[in-house]
Amino acid sequence: MTPNPETPSPWAMSRRGVMASSAATAAVASTPIAAAAPRTDAAKGSVPTASTKLTVNGKQHSLTLDTRTTLLDTLREHLHLTGTKKGCDHGQCGACTVIVNGERINSCLSLAVQHDGDEVTTIEGLGMPDHLHPMQAAFVKHDGFQCGYCTPGQICSAVSVLEEIKRGIPSHVQGDVAAQPAISDAEIRERMSGNICRCGAYANILEAINEVAGRSGDKA
Ligand code: FES
Ligand code: FES
Repeated sequence: MTPNPETPSPWAMSRRGVMASSAATAAVASTPIAAAAPRTDAAKGSVPTASTKLTVNGKQHSLTLDTRTTLLDTLREHLHLTGTKKGCDHGQCGACTVIVNGERINSCLSLAVQHDGDEVTTIEGLGMPDHLHPMQAAFVKHDGFQCGYCTPGQICSAVSVLEEIKRGIPSHVQGDVAAQPAISDAEIRERMSGNICRCGAYANILEAINEVAGRSGDKA
């Protein structure tokens, strides 16, 4: 319906109204915020801490951590291993995937103190620039990334996916969950579905994983 120019829109605001509302916003923005009260010693003492031993990429670490610290923040902020990325911090993107005792996990969903004594492998532990892990080399060869933000998580996941298939761990797309799973494009896609790539490098990631699996991919 064509609006009648004679009828004022319910959203219309006079110039005076706009000025008044802008001034009100500016006044709110410029109101000084009360300074946060400094933490007292008693408050500091109430932070729950625990000692945790982790073996990360073959190196042992003894840490005293706030018990609420995630494994992801421990790796990035305490051990300065920034290869593992924080995407959503809510278990939804897979950017923080690391391998713990041979299983891939979202490190943003796990508290470090839950991993006392565990062995953690991050992207830094898989390979080095002069000695890449086969999966890292395949990602480079097949252009399996664009911005690279999701890539450490994708590679840790991909390495684990091939291990999971080898170990016979079933997936949602398998017809018979009691049978040994076979590697297929559908299996790889399903098992990698927790790793989101905002750049959409999925086709190339699939090629890279197929190469490491020793196959050329399914015919379209
Ligand atoms: Fe952990 Fe997104 S940062 S799943
Ligand atoms: Fe950019 Fe995956 S390469 S998010």
